Amino acid sequence: MTLLEVRNLEVTYAGGAAAVRGVDLVLGAGQKLGVAGESGCGKSTLALALLRLLPSGTRVGGEILWNGEDVLTMRWGRVRAVRWAGASIVFQGAMHSLNAVHRVGDQIAEPILVHRRATAAQARRKAGELLEHVGLPAARAAAYPHELSGGQRQRVMIAMALACDPRLIVADEPTTALDVMIQAQILRLIGQLVAEQDLGLIMISHDLAVLAETCDRLAVMYAGRVVEEGPAREVYEDPRHPYGRALSAAFPRIGDPASRFAPRGLAGDPPDPSGLPSGCAFHPRCPVALDGCATQDQALRDAGPGRRAACVHVETTVPGPTAAAEDARSSP
Ligand SMILES: Nc1ncnc2c1ncn2[C@@H]1O[C@H](COP(=O)(O)OP(=O)(O)O)[C@@H](O)[C@H]1O
Ligand code: SF4
Ligand SMILES: [Mg+2]
Repeated sequence: MTLLEVRNLEVTYAGGAAAVRGVDLVLGAGQKLGVAGESGCGKSTLALALLRLLPSGTRVGGEILWNGEDVLTMRWGRVRAVRWAGASIVFQGAMHSLNAVHRVGDQIAEPILVHRRATAAQARRKAGELLEHVGLPAARAAAYPHELSGGQRQRVMIAMALACDPRLIVADEPTTALDVMIQAQILRLIGQLVAEQDLGLIMISHDLAVLAETCDRLAVMYAGRVVEEGPAREVYEDPRHPYGRALSAAFPRIGDPASRFAPRGLAGDPPDPSGLPSGCAFHPRCPVALDGCATQDQALRDAGPGRRAACVHVETTVPGPTAAAEDARSSP
């Protein structure tokens, strides 16, 4: 059953930045989709659009169908209900999302009181259970955010996201502010929880290796577009788009935080959405660009079973193995 379907989503910020350009996504109940791409490629804009959390003045086009109902035209009361009980979102930087003057247990209990109409005692009990579920003792409910480590606070955020039994979790780089070991732990925790409860997941991360491990499918975004998508392991180990290849080569090893932000062999940065290059937006950085790439954009096209990529080379094969594929081959 389809839980979420995004059709031709276009998001333009008030200043004219076209941050998401024609994105289509389909997520079945219980499916896990990873979204990858460098900073500035439109991943957070996409996540925010799903729950209508974008700043006012932003132009949004297309459709975001939640169980067939368009989030973009829903009344606000309905949007609020969907945000807690349907789909909930975990952001990076839990310290800013938690209220410093309230105990974390009360913050987890609050949406249960409001949206589930539970009694105070029921909500407190559920908050304790949720904390244990994310690997913290229930007694930590009495702690204030500053008494917890960054990793513990992020666990609290995950407990809050699970509070009203949502069917979909949107996790936007939930671990970027944490150290590398804790990052992998938290990403795996989210993967394990959604698998246990058969929730849908949209996980945005720089860490392609963890996305490949946690998700069924992967979408790679560049300059506001999905440029490659397919089964997660295949996209990670054998990407078809030159940008997918650069990302895959950049993230094979846990423990090197610098490499997460600098795809190997790829100079420069993604373009600013208010001044996109002509043709294929990736052409100024593409190691295998052809003459026509500066004028001719490429739509997503068939790139094998269940796979699509937006590159002129898709029918042929882009040369050169990726580091991830080399690692996979050389591991016992
Ligand atoms: N509120 C905003 N107003 C104008 N531009 C924005 C706003 N938020 C993000 N952008 C721009 O939109 C583009 C995509 O940003 P974002 O969705 O945050 O990317 P990502 O999450 O992939 O790093 C960036 O160029 C960013 O500068
Ligand atoms: S279409 Fe051209 S510029 Fe774009 S990714 Fe493919 S080869 Fe590179
Ligand atoms: Mg972001």
